[in-house]
Amino acid sequence: MIKQSFSNFKMFSNSRSFESSRDFARTDYAHALEHITTVRPLTFHQKLQQKTVNMSVFKDVDMAPPVAVFNLTARYKEDKDPAKVNLGVGAYRTDEGKPWVLPVVRTVESQMAADSTLDHEYLPIAGLKTFTEAATRLALGDDSPALLQNRAGGFQALSGTGALRLGIDFLSRFGKSKTVYVSDPTWPNHMAIGRDAHFTEIKKYRYWDDKTKALNIDGMLEDLRNAPEHSVVILHGCAHNPTGVDPKKEQWEQIAEVMAAKKLFPFFDIAYQGFATGDLDADASSVRLFVKKEFELFVSQSFSKNFGLYNERVGNLAIVTQDNDSLMRVQSQLEKLARPMWSNPPNHGARIVATTLNNPSLFAEWKEAIRTMSSRVISMRALLKQKLKQLNTPGSWDHITDQIGMFSYTGLTSKQVDFIIQKYHVYLMQDGRINMCAVTNSNCDHIAAAIHDAVTSC
Ligand SMILES: Cc1ncc(COP(=O)(O)O)c(C=O)c1O
Repeated sequence: MIKQSFSNFKMFSNSRSFESSRDFARTDYAHALEHITTVRPLTFHQKLQQKTVNMSVFKDVDMAPPVAVFNLTARYKEDKDPAKVNLGVGAYRTDEGKPWVLPVVRTVESQMAADSTLDHEYLPIAGLKTFTEAATRLALGDDSPALLQNRAGGFQALSGTGALRLGIDFLSRFGKSKTVYVSDPTWPNHMAIGRDAHFTEIKKYRYWDDKTKALNIDGMLEDLRNAPEHSVVILHGCAHNPTGVDPKKEQWEQIAEVMAAKKLFPFFDIAYQGFATGDLDADASSVRLFVKKEFELFVSQSFSKNFGLYNERVGNLAIVTQDNDSLMRVQSQLEKLARPMWSNPPNHGARIVATTLNNPSLFAEWKEAIRTMSSRVISMRALLKQKLKQLNTPGSWDHITDQIGMFSYTGLTSKQVDFIIQKYHVYLMQDGRINMCAVTNSNCDHIAAAIHDAVTSC
């Protein structure tokens, strides 16, 4: 290597062996300089040149730690073991362990491909109207008082993450508080979004009770009661990530009561509508309850999970205000925020969703696909619990079937997680969260054996 570097090295050396090529790469040059110092002292020109090489604008940029869930997938991909399983990333898999393109999506995509009236012109900054209107109706319900009174509307965003970011950015500029509350635990991006949108306080409200493996409603209510007025509170509308534990209807009533008393601003994240119960309306009931109670609120919607459109980045920020005038003003400011970020949103996924939601027979077909996905998850929960019981794995595994949605918060410790990854090649998040959609009839025995071994050995 040194020899090769030196053979390309010409400009500042007297040695003939360095004169063979005029064409040397900058890296070769830097490498050569590193070694030439041991051969003879640097000339003035060499020192100058070395200084230039070392003066990268980026030389003080620290290496950021990788994003945990994507790092886990990368490790899984590198693993050559045939029994490997990825229970990390939150994406649906068929019972064959494959991604699923929903049949209704295929149908609409072929219609779009054949439709010569469609073009690739820019969408308006606020997005495709047929999409934002249908998405907002999906979250709030056709009979929503806010929609009937013309004080609710949508704004297209880059999937659920983009809708959250846009809404939180807006609240950071125009809201009455710089404090945002997230559940403990939560999807880690909630905290990152709050921080990047310049909220000065990112606080946690209690949510998960480790002992009961259920919702800590008293802790949650107490933390909300103690929150400063006007704080923003991010609430998972359904299928809480990572715990799979949602408040019951009476508990949502209690949460709403405390939030109204403290004038807290509800920001619902409803990324899993349809995945909790298989019923789109039931999964949006928390949001609709708050609207009925006349809160002003935001809802971030994602069509990654329920349409399987992960990489199309289809999202909507649904906005509910007191009156139409406020809605217009909020939407106008959202345009000012979106314009310098992504200018206008992508069309493809939004058109698929809009076409489906606005056509009764496609809509019915989509609802059927949602039931297929959610019922497969429910049956895999039952199967995994059954296997663990058959193995006499210590502990109660009822929480696997009590929890809902895509994830199960297993209660496995970080040490047990490492053990499972190393010995069984089953990849799961460090906090013990597993994606139930990636459990199949074929891999369930292997996963149960891994959990059993970890619980009994570590
Ligand atoms: C709780 C929660 N909110 C929002 C999202 C956003 O997903 P996307 O940006 O793909 O729509 C996710 C994705 O995993 C999530 O788990």
